Amino acid sequence: MSPTPEAILAQLQATGSAYSEKKPGAREQLLNLAHSLISSLELPSEAIQRMGWAEPARAAHCRIAVDLGLFESLKDSGELGISGKALAAKAGADETLIARTLKHLAAMNVVAETGADKYVGTPLSNALTEPKYRDGIIYTYDVAGPSFRGLPEYLKSIKYALPTKLTDGPFQGAHKTELPFFAWLDQSPPYLEKFNNYMSAYRAGKPSWVDQGFYPIEERLVEGFDANTGGNDVLLVDVGGGLGHDLRELKEKHPSLPGKLILQDRPEVISAVSSGGVLEATAHDFFTPQPVKEARAYYLHSVLHDWDDDDCVRILEQLRPAMKLGYSKLLVNEIIVPDRNPTWPVTSMDQLVFVLGAMGERTEARWEDILKRAGFKVVHIYSYEMGSESLIEAELA
Ligand SMILES: C[S@@+](CC[C@H](N)C(=O)[O-])C[C@H]1O[C@@H](n2cnc3c(N)ncnc32)[C@H](O)[C@@H]1O
Repeated sequence: MSPTPEAILAQLQATGSAYSEKKPGAREQLLNLAHSLISSLELPSEAIQRMGWAEPARAAHCRIAVDLGLFESLKDSGELGISGKALAAKAGADETLIARTLKHLAAMNVVAETGADKYVGTPLSNALTEPKYRDGIIYTYDVAGPSFRGLPEYLKSIKYALPTKLTDGPFQGAHKTELPFFAWLDQSPPYLEKFNNYMSAYRAGKPSWVDQGFYPIEERLVEGFDANTGGNDVLLVDVGGGLGHDLRELKEKHPSLPGKLILQDRPEVISAVSSGGVLEATAHDFFTPQPVKEARAYYLHSVLHDWDDDDCVRILEQLRPAMKLGYSKLLVNEIIVPDRNPTWPVTSMDQLVFVLGAMGERTEARWEDILKRAGFKVVHIYSYEMGSESLIEAELA
């Protein structure tokens, strides 16, 4: 039975105290409870209105606001704010149209209305002026959006079979292509850049494995690190690491780390990364043998969830010959779907990889099975309270 609003309110109060005391996971728990409270209060008619019109309109108007630079103008206007009329004039758009856009964005808490036809930015709309978040709006609306929109029709057309092929799934149905997702991105340059930028932002602010109290980096990686092993002084190789945001965060939060940090990704991605500084960037196809030998750790973040079990085994098998028994570690940073009650960040990521690549998130048992098939054994799984991603530490079996 679903909890009553009264029961949720009581939990909210208790969790509110934990939040004030800065307890780990309290913010995420409050969000979950707030969502539950809405569901317990909302009438069916309101639920349909929210899902069917209010949220699609919010997403569309955020996308439009990005195109017109409305969030930048709001941010520039500071606390004084700006009128809808002035915003329309700056954007070269119809005044009534922009007034209605702003009314809905204010009603949905994206911007704030402080007086008659007077608007100010919010922390959210101000953040949407940063390239990494702005690109998130463009990428999720233009690339992922059509795949969700077309999902019912697509599944009906294949008689509700489970799509499992990278080249034949909801993404291909929606974008009228036969290319798998990453190959399509390469041929759609604006979206390749948007995707890469958004990758550096989609979990910004959430618990990360490099945070204190998550994975004991000193104890597990630094102690026992031998700069001469393999003759190349490599602490960690980030395989499929995108633009290198994880390595930069690692070095920022642990500035005294010894050894080199190597970033590997496809040439189309690496060409946009400047080497030097904290990392060395090299193009490498992870379906081919790992060229960096005997590093302390090989790290894969949100990489394997894009591939089916057999491909995951192939990717991991390419690492084995490079690893030194008893020294090199494999670090897999992925969502582990709990057997009961996964939260919406978990289930929605499962849906995202489903519509983009016909793939899915995995349970602990499935991760263990893949690692075992590839010749690894799990040493320990590190998770953070209410965090959606875990760090699996494994070694050669
Ligand atoms: C979901 S992104 C994750 C990026 C980064 N690790 C992160 O967590 O933000 C998957 C990455 O795998 C890379 N990738 C896909 N196929 C690859 C291949 N065959 N070899 C190397 N990298 C590949 C993509 O370019 C992309 O950067």
